[in-house]
Amino acid sequence: MSISIKQLHPLFAAEMRGADLAGGISAATRRAIQQAMDDDAVLVLPEQRLDDATQIAFTSLYGPLELAPPVRGKTGTFIDGGRIRHREIFDVSNLDENGRILDLDDQRRAYGEGNQLWHTDSSFRQKSATWSLLHARVIPPDGGDTEFADTRAAYDALPQAMKDRLDGLIAEHSIWHSRAQLGGYMPTEEEREARPPAQHPVVRRHPGSGRKALYIASHASHIAGWPVEDGRALLRELLAFATQPRFVYTHKWRTGDLVIWDNRCTLHRATPFESAHYVRDLRRTTVIDTRVEVAQESCRVG
Ligand SMILES: [Fe+2]
Repeated sequence: MSISIKQLHPLFAAEMRGADLAGGISAATRRAIQQAMDDDAVLVLPEQRLDDATQIAFTSLYGPLELAPPVRGKTGTFIDGGRIRHREIFDVSNLDENGRILDLDDQRRAYGEGNQLWHTDSSFRQKSATWSLLHARVIPPDGGDTEFADTRAAYDALPQAMKDRLDGLIAEHSIWHSRAQLGGYMPTEEEREARPPAQHPVVRRHPGSGRKALYIASHASHIAGWPVEDGRALLRELLAFATQPRFVYTHKWRTGDLVIWDNRCTLHRATPFESAHYVRDLRRTTVIDTRVEVAQESCRVG
């Protein structure tokens, strides 16, 4: 079956059919996916029959995988008999380790609510992420969409005076900054130490497309060297600008969808659903950005 691509939004996001990832892909298909990602930044591959091991194997074609951190030391997913046996799989669900819907007061639920803020995955790591790959195993009957925003198009649309203002700025990102805003998750001292903040340029050049992109998120707490409130105000302004409806694609999930997004040039957020009643089980793999230092250098010079 040949590959076909359909545009999902005027600025970015595409759907690719004709690639069966579980069956193993050719070098040509692998390159086609890379090209589509460089062009469109969000790629939907419907009807993929992936288990965790197959998703990990496919993801590893594109770089080393990030390992999922435990939450409150008890995701419980990696222990024998747990629901998820691979540390490369991020559990994006409302389920506990035994497959039951999380209690309303379970801290993992509070932690997950932070995903409803606009963010880009792993910006709070110094070795941040290139792609995230999210596979839909069980989808609720209504709600639970994921919204994506194109931060290359948003950067292009900024007034020149703002582009000049952003030149050379560095933002500090922390998972605990976003978690304090929504859901109210309070990390343990151990968790705080294990996941310190990271700093990245506010504008970076995306290596695959050569385009500049805003690299911001709800994880971004302030601008290095600026008074905290001034930096926070600028970051809020940029986030509001970049997430205007004209830059946003909303994905309505179908079971079997694999959606890949490029964290270097998009933002995303989860939307609510009836999480006390319906199961939503998605599994994420994440590719580590091994070119971060190069990206920072290219941002400084160009
Ligand atoms: Fe995310």
